[in-house]
Amino acid sequence: MQLLFCSIFTPATAEQRQQNFIDYWQFSQQHGGELLEADKDLAKKREKLQYFQQHPVRLRKPLANPDAFYRNYVKMIDKPEDLDRMTLMLTSIYKFARHEWVGIKGAWDAVPDLASATTVEDKISRVHLAEEFCHWRLFDEMLKTCGLDHVEWVPLPPWQEWFYRQFPKLPGVIMDGPAFVTELMGVTYYFHLNQLFDDVLADEPEVCQRLKALLAEITIDEIAHVGQRRNFLGDTNTKVSKWLVKPFYRLFFADIPEVALLFDVEQMIRDGEAFDYSVVPETMLAKSWLPSYCKA
Ligand SMILES: [Fe+2]
Ligand SMILES: [Fe+2]
Repeated sequence: MQLLFCSIFTPATAEQRQQNFIDYWQFSQQHGGELLEADKDLAKKREKLQYFQQHPVRLRKPLANPDAFYRNYVKMIDKPEDLDRMTLMLTSIYKFARHEWVGIKGAWDAVPDLASATTVEDKISRVHLAEEFCHWRLFDEMLKTCGLDHVEWVPLPPWQEWFYRQFPKLPGVIMDGPAFVTELMGVTYYFHLNQLFDDVLADEPEVCQRLKALLAEITIDEIAHVGQRRNFLGDTNTKVSKWLVKPFYRLFFADIPEVALLFDVEQMIRDGEAFDYSVVPETMLAKSWLPSYCKA
């Protein structure tokens, strides 16, 4: 049976959103398993990562020029047009994940731990951050799969680190829209990255499948995060968020010069603005979560 969905920007009542927070919290607890606060980790996700680490897949033909990656992964030094697509793809993955890593490091200290969380929204936010730390580990595993064992996770410049620390302390009415658009941008990027794997890794089918499996672990969570962060938005903030998609995507991706060479940013913007859950494969949707008001 064909499932029908409404736009992610569909309006919802306060009662619907409250019920959806409760529903998401139930999903979230069984999805990730026990929260391991001290390790910023989740029991079930740790097991999955360990499976990948214990069953490693590596490139048939090692990277021709790993130095090109190491020279450009923190900051682009060479002309990006002079780099091969594999290197550009890997440096873009690092740069995307690095922003995510800095953002969650800042937020982890700003939100209450699970034992101190009094509202369902606070509990959700704590587990959400732990999931994001798991994504960072999965991205690191992607780079290791491509033979990049010496990747360092380098802080951003001080003003950007400061910004990411202040962001979660802003009042919800200001912070909730951008936080939602950031999740949506993640899902858009992951869908486009998944397609790019087929193209760049055509001669490396095992690594292609492994990177897709690692990315699917991340994407399933992010699909749920999109709905969960959407659930924080009232009608005005939902409208503002749709308007924010274009400037946000453009601004964020302009900071990663590889992206314009690998992806169609304008198509990514259109995908973000048009997002509904019909674009999500059913196998992923079955493991993920969406708000009730996004089902037709
Ligand atoms: Fe994430
Ligand atoms: Fe997320």
